[in-house]
Amino acid sequence: MERVIRFGVSLEPELLRRFDELIEKKGYINRSEAIRDLIRKELVESTVHEKKGKVIGTLTIVYDHEAGDVTHKLLHLQHSRHSAVRSTMHIHLDEHNCLEVLVVEGDVEDVKQIAENLKALKGVKYGELSLFTLSV
Ligand code: NI
Repeated sequence: MERVIRFGVSLEPELLRRFDELIEKKGYINRSEAIRDLIRKELVESTVHEKKGKVIGTLTIVYDHEAGDVTHKLLHLQHSRHSAVRSTMHIHLDEHNCLEVLVVEGDVEDVKQIAENLKALKGVKYGELSLFTLSV
């Protein structure tokens, strides 16, 4: 295991009580693990927000495959030379709707750009991008 450093944190009792209540509900075994996750989450969000660094994640979209030429445009965007799309999983939900989970990887700016372009296509009803960085 990587070396760890212990440090003290001062908190108001009420804030600590609410924190303990929350992490127990979430299933954390101790405060250290919960605080580690909170710090990682902030660092990931900072990378994504500052648009600097490499990220990996998923883009989930729901679209009507019969709307215009959405299927063609989706494929075209995913095949473009600088595409950050590494893999996709496609589920036919019903006669019209498709759910697609795209694994995206690359510079955060490129990943966000392609996610926005895909979400903006006519026929795409829902899009949710979730990113992570291994540098934290
Ligand atoms: Ni489909």
